[in-house]
Amino acid sequence: MLPEGTHTLGPKNGTLSVRTGRAGAVAKAGHNLLIHVIGWNATVEIGDESSLVLDVDSTSLRVRDGTGGMQALTADDMANIEQTINDEVLLRTTIGFRSTSVQVEDQRLGVEGELTLSGQTHPLTFELAVDGGNRLTGRAVVKQSDWGMTPYTALFGALTVTDDVEVAIDATLPTAEEFELMRPKPLKPAVYDLDGISRLSVLAHYELYKGYVAKRNEIVEKLAATDRRSANQVYSDLRSLKVDLAFALGGIKNHELYFEHLGGRGGKPAGAAAALIERDFGSAEAWREDLKATGMAGRGWAWTAYDWDEGRLLNYAGDAQSTFPIWNAVPLVALDVYEHAYMLDFGTDRAAYIDAFFANLDWSVVNDWIWTHQIPVTR
Ligand SMILES: [Fe+2]
Repeated sequence: MLPEGTHTLGPKNGTLSVRTGRAGAVAKAGHNLLIHVIGWNATVEIGDESSLVLDVDSTSLRVRDGTGGMQALTADDMANIEQTINDEVLLRTTIGFRSTSVQVEDQRLGVEGELTLSGQTHPLTFELAVDGGNRLTGRAVVKQSDWGMTPYTALFGALTVTDDVEVAIDATLPTAEEFELMRPKPLKPAVYDLDGISRLSVLAHYELYKGYVAKRNEIVEKLAATDRRSANQVYSDLRSLKVDLAFALGGIKNHELYFEHLGGRGGKPAGAAAALIERDFGSAEAWREDLKATGMAGRGWAWTAYDWDEGRLLNYAGDAQSTFPIWNAVPLVALDVYEHAYMLDFGTDRAAYIDAFFANLDWSVVNDWIWTHQIPVTR
């Protein structure tokens, strides 16, 4: 069960997502959508009066995937859907949930409360499962018409979004345990289908990534069993464990960034990323030239990061998975230049691989990170 006290959830330790279905005579022409909410926070209070409060920025819904349909969704389609959500469905109104009762049981929370959506407040009941004492998962079905909303319709009613939409939460809380074992995150489907970078190359990264997760788990278990009292042998063991841990964590964190922001259509930076790059590098071309040169020069990684101490974007190099700690900087572009990233597809032509990397960048993901980390675009 969750420990007593106040637990805070948000985009940095969880995901809040929405799934929609389709109906109507030509339902097959539409897509089932997976939408991520990037602006949200929730507070779960466990104690004498347990409670759950959730606030959502209704303009922060981002289409992440569309399944079914005659054709794959393009970036433009996704942008149009997001605009429709803002202008015609949610109307930029506040979304919030306030519990009236939370029943705390062994491995579940039974939640009753009121959801405010599209200007109306009505009851909503759902359950959250508690897994391992620190992971919360659950889903709720929201019937749009109960909140006075008309499900979105196209093609004169022949294609509609189903009235029921499913809202899911999956969040991990800090735990009292020293470490939790980690599981590899699955690859998003778009990463298997990149332009110029083969599925085999992606799988080569992914196998290494899974190896780093296994290594990290092995090390944290060894660390938990290591006696810290002063014996030279212990210090030497501890040194190698801690050095290897940094290397494994670098391999995990860097690859998670890499996979997450590939699968797009490249091109010029858009939105907040474009504004930051223009301001700090002078132009998108100058930024790209410097990051490419950094990737050619380094042995492992090149990153564009927002450095909070410098107050600007900078391109940094990492010669190995473990040379990443530029403290107080948020990586926004992570370019893997290890040999496994390009040898299969490009032989020794690393420059051609870097061009392919740029061509597959998903700027909407980069913009989401800028939003999530509240990086100021003006100064
Ligand atoms: Fe890699």
